[in-house]
Amino acid sequence: MTKTRVLTGITATGTPHLGNYAGAIRPAIEASLDENTESFLFLADYHALIKCHEPQTIRDSARAIAATWLATGLNPDRVTFYRQSDIPEILELCWILTSITAKGLMNRAHAYKAAVQANTENSEVDADKGVEMGLFNYPILMTADILMFNGQKIPVGKDQIQHIEMARDIAQRFNYIYGETFSLPEAIVDESAMIIPGLDGRKMSKSYGNTIPLFEAEKKFRKLINKIKTNSLEPGEPKDPEGCTLFSIYSAFTDEAAQTEMRQRYADGIGWGDLKKFLFEYLNDELKDKREEYNRLMADPAELDRILAKGAEKARAHSAPFLADIRHKIGISPMSL
Ligand code: TRP
Repeated sequence: MTKTRVLTGITATGTPHLGNYAGAIRPAIEASLDENTESFLFLADYHALIKCHEPQTIRDSARAIAATWLATGLNPDRVTFYRQSDIPEILELCWILTSITAKGLMNRAHAYKAAVQANTENSEVDADKGVEMGLFNYPILMTADILMFNGQKIPVGKDQIQHIEMARDIAQRFNYIYGETFSLPEAIVDESAMIIPGLDGRKMSKSYGNTIPLFEAEKKFRKLINKIKTNSLEPGEPKDPEGCTLFSIYSAFTDEAAQTEMRQRYADGIGWGDLKKFLFEYLNDELKDKREEYNRLMADPAELDRILAKGAEKARAHSAPFLADIRHKIGISPMSL
């Protein structure tokens, strides 16, 4: 049986937090264990370049993100795990696809349209002010990421669905002009993906500044848990677990039975202080070994390089011959052929 090819990119900026872990990293690692799939997972560092022009941030984020995925259980022997920038064929394919993509298609991309709309609302003379070609072409680079490996199922957040549809359009156009070459990718959106609240009760997100970094040092981690917003009910008063940030976070890391037990403790009036202490100890236990492995990898970047180099080699075993075939199809081939 041929395996379904699952492919997804991780934009490499920032330090992963509890929300990223429960909502994206853990489910992706679990999915990669499915016998019927073959997973391609990569650090989208050339995508990061569009949003960030700080070389040190790009370097630090790539390292932290690679170490996080490996420390949380991604098995590089099972999954093809690589850095986008290690696969030159992706960028070459990006140009080939750029050459057959209608500009009008890119005009319709949400991120670009939002930038233009913001300029218009601010009465800018130039509607494209501040828009770089990287942002404009972003969906084509994403398409090249996917088509280079004939990715079939693409797990993404809702905001990325449009990009996968564009990838299908571009793949179809290539197939129409040059003959059947690419399979048509399909977005997989996990509606049940967990959304974890942050310190202030809103969705945990870097843009709200309310995150708890996944591998924060123990002392700081305890402090952050203690900072989570609760209400003013006293110990002994029954409390409602629904809508409670502490309970939501606990639930993302436990099964039904543990949650039922915790509901009872809320009903029995457990105090917020005790609850925070309990949650800290619980999460710390869950994350301790992973944090240690993360710190070990962060202190040994040469090992990260070795793992990623092996991943790149595995990936290029697909991309190099496939690109040779694509070049031939478009007429870029040895003169003697
Ligand atoms: N743009 C995606 C995001 O921001 C990351 C990404 C880059 C990606 N290339 C991809 C996702 C290819 C899926 C497939 O989340």
